[in-house]
Amino acid sequence: MTLLYTSDPERGRIWREIFAAEASDIGFFDASQPHDPATIRYLAAWAPSAELIAGLPNLEILFSIGAGIDQFDMNALPPHIRVVRMIEPGIAAGMVEYATMAALALHRNLIDYREAQKDARWAPIKLKSAGERRIGVMGLGNLGQAVLKALAPFGFPLSGWSRSPRAMEGVTCHAGEAALPDFLAACDILICLLPLTDETRGILCRKTLSLLPRGAALVNVGRGGHLVEQDLLSLLDEAHLSGAVLDVTDPEPLPADHPFWAHPRIILTPHVASMTRADSAARALIANIRRHQAGAPIEGEVARGRGY
Ligand code: NAP
Ligand code: GLV
Repeated sequence: MTLLYTSDPERGRIWREIFAAEASDIGFFDASQPHDPATIRYLAAWAPSAELIAGLPNLEILFSIGAGIDQFDMNALPPHIRVVRMIEPGIAAGMVEYATMAALALHRNLIDYREAQKDARWAPIKLKSAGERRIGVMGLGNLGQAVLKALAPFGFPLSGWSRSPRAMEGVTCHAGEAALPDFLAACDILICLLPLTDETRGILCRKTLSLLPRGAALVNVGRGGHLVEQDLLSLLDEAHLSGAVLDVTDPEPLPADHPFWAHPRIILTPHVASMTRADSAARALIANIRRHQAGAPIEGEVARGRGY
């Protein structure tokens, strides 16, 4: 049984060492090494081409290098191939750091102070306590839950929204489209950690963002396709929203003349909220291949019909 790896060469080098040391019975090839395509049962990739997939006649599982799987062309993927997203502690740790940084920056008015500094203006803003700032997370999966757990000790009133009902201690949980307005009405800071699917594309639009309380702020760490950019710009200009921290855009990289770059109320980062950590990801992958060999459920398997 053999795994083909087609992504960053530096991560590939680390994976090869870990597979050799800890799972030498699993053949590990990267795309630059000669290999017999008929032996490949597992593919670890970010965005494999249709040609690559078509050339692997015995492929059983496509493992995403990252948490998201929206980069895969599902139509080019034969229906029998199982798809697995990456669940590993490095991704969650990075996301927790970034979402906490963004929430605290918004809570402590960093956007206003960045503007005041440009004008050499000493302009203190009255402090709000964490208990007066409600934070809501869209998406209560692996990452949404990790972020909420990290925010809890600050004392923010927390809520979350998911597709199916979830329960989390200390978090007011909402589920389904009908519950979205009530959820949004109680978010002073909204963090999007949804997967990008047919149902969630464009979900951050005028209709939904207008339901946030006046002065609320947005953190988008999901995908650029969740956000209707012009709606965000209008709501910022109308001061319905006070700011946004955006880690993801559509397209990426964002063109140099895009209005987000220079917008005084937007903090922009180049899709760096979290990154797959090579060592822990290799071990997560090995554990999943072992589950497959044992006929056990695979962690992070995607329901292909659902899109995540
Ligand atoms: P996950 O474990 O699959 O969780 C997804 C969550 O979203 C689940 O709670 C799911 O609801 C909810 N959801 C899906 N569709 C929905 C809908 N139509 N309405 C309401 N809720 C819906 O995913 P994850 O591992 O937490 O990752 C989430 C996303 O984060 C990834 O897909 C990726 O886009 C993004 N990400 C970004 C970065 C970055 O660096 N910016 C890094 C990693 C990941 P249920 O609980 O009911 O299933
Ligand atoms: C990054 O965006 C990921 O999906 O892991």
